[in-house]
Amino acid sequence: MKEFPLYPCYDILTKGTGKLNQGNKKQACPVLLYPNIYKEEDRQGSLSLSKTYPKGKILIMQKNSITSIYFSPAGTTRSIVQKVASLQEGKHQELDLLSLAKDTHPVFHTDDLVIVGMPVYAGRIPSTCPSLLRTFQGNGAKAIAIVAYGNRAYEDALRELETILIQQGFLIIKAAAVIAQHSLFPLVAKNRPDSSDWLKIEHWAKEQRNRPLQHTDEGTYRERGKISFKPEGTEQCNNCGLCAAICPAKAIDIREPRKTDKEKCISCTACIHVCPVHARAFLDEKYPQAQQAFLERNSERKEPEFF
Ligand SMILES: Cc1cc2nc3c(=O)[nH]c(=O)nc-3n(C[C@H](O)[C@H](O)[C@H](O)COP(=O)(O)O)c2cc1C
Ligand code: SF4
Ligand code: SF4
Repeated sequence: MKEFPLYPCYDILTKGTGKLNQGNKKQACPVLLYPNIYKEEDRQGSLSLSKTYPKGKILIMQKNSITSIYFSPAGTTRSIVQKVASLQEGKHQELDLLSLAKDTHPVFHTDDLVIVGMPVYAGRIPSTCPSLLRTFQGNGAKAIAIVAYGNRAYEDALRELETILIQQGFLIIKAAAVIAQHSLFPLVAKNRPDSSDWLKIEHWAKEQRNRPLQHTDEGTYRERGKISFKPEGTEQCNNCGLCAAICPAKAIDIREPRKTDKEKCISCTACIHVCPVHARAFLDEKYPQAQQAFLERNSERKEPEFF
């Protein structure tokens, strides 16, 4: 029978037939299968699980817990998710999608709550995120879906995030599109969320809701737009390699961290924020002018929306 490695800190579910390897100790594998994801004939325990998860680690999340899940290269989405999570009572844990290994499969439980936050990139969720979210197994856990956008528009992003979460077996109980400082052009929506935004976010986060939101989605989304600005390293770089390690698009070669593979780069800014000596930046001479023009086009204040 196939064995699945288990992160030692996580609880084990209470049903199933497989085997887990925890140190040297083998344990009965408790596996809950969610009918939306698995076909009826697949719901037989670990063998069916191995069909869906052929390799990698199964991360069985702590039961009855509140999990903050975010992809947040510039940190604002993370702060919103953490604020919303902090207002929910229960045990807390976090999954940072920038550091979650691609072959990890987090498994949740019916009584869990997840708060999932994504930045909006060209009206969609970031291109590296759907495949990560599609490794999640919701098992009916409740979810709060949040997109953070830089005062231009969030377009298809919230619908896309909700659809993936539902397909992975979560029940969306609340959703929001919140304005956050623009990570590509930080002069836009500077310092947002501000105190007025935080008050609204807190009020909404505290509302008790258990019924799933209505959700319709024909499954077509706008094309992912191309962003022409890509960060590069300057001569201040000391080759520490942190940017290469965090880059979600594998666009930085650790042997040459000043360079950026412009085809792969998604302009997320994680490398800029992680660099301890501020050696990465948008160096294109057209960038300041583009930021100014973008600021003028998007200066009218937008307000967060809550569902
Ligand atoms: C590549 C890229 C594309 C973006 N596209 C949009 C967009 O379509 N609409 C918008 O309002 N903000 C857009 N933004 C701004 C981000 O959605 C916003 O700053 C978000 O809060 C960043 O999240 P983070 O701070 O957690 O990284 C974009 C930012 C980047 C880096
Ligand atoms: S190189 Fe591009 S994709 Fe990689 S972290 Fe930097 S901005 Fe993000
Ligand atoms: S994080 Fe900064 S200093 Fe470290 S390798 Fe990257 S650019 Fe160089």
